[in-house]
Amino acid sequence: MYQIVIIHDSQQLEQAFHIRRKVFIDEQHVPEELEMDDYDRQADTRHILLLDDQGQAVGTARFRPYGGGVLKIERVAVTGKQRGQGVGRRIMEAIEAEAKKEKYDSLKLSAQLHAKSFYEGLGYQAKGPIYMDAGIEHVDMFKQISQEL
Ligand code: COA
Repeated sequence: MYQIVIIHDSQQLEQAFHIRRKVFIDEQHVPEELEMDDYDRQADTRHILLLDDQGQAVGTARFRPYGGGVLKIERVAVTGKQRGQGVGRRIMEAIEAEAKKEKYDSLKLSAQLHAKSFYEGLGYQAKGPIYMDAGIEHVDMFKQISQEL
């Protein structure tokens, strides 16, 4: 059984940062000063953790209001061994459920190009050109979640 937690204490936040350091800094070589930015500790940024049946944190993401009814999702990361088992999907679904509850119109993210089909499988659409960020190819992706278009 997995458990989704919206982080509310500094110990959990450290667990999220630990996953991000392993995935983005160690594995993908994103510079630390780009990975750990000011949004991490901004009051309206929320972080999410997914715990496995042993209470081990195996995935994380953060999300924040982006203006105009848009919620932006960032730093989606699942630990190496746990990939391909639905952890990423559960994290994305939990954020979407939260966004719907809070009446956001749409979700936005900047996808690493290799993960584009992961997000497409969750209903996101790519928009605009491919660009480089932290030395990695990215594309912007969106998902409308409000009923009225
Ligand atoms: N390309 C295509 N499809 C993918 C995929 C990929 N890279 N990763 C997962 N999928 C598919 C799965 O096959 C699955 O499909 P299904 O529902 O039809 O079976 C679905 O997406 C959900 O996969 P899931 O197991 O929940 O994904 P995950 O837990 O492995 O998480 C990432 C996906 C991208 C978050 C994870 O691989 C990761 O952390 N990668 C390193 C960090 C990273 O690049 N993050 C993205 C930053 S934009």
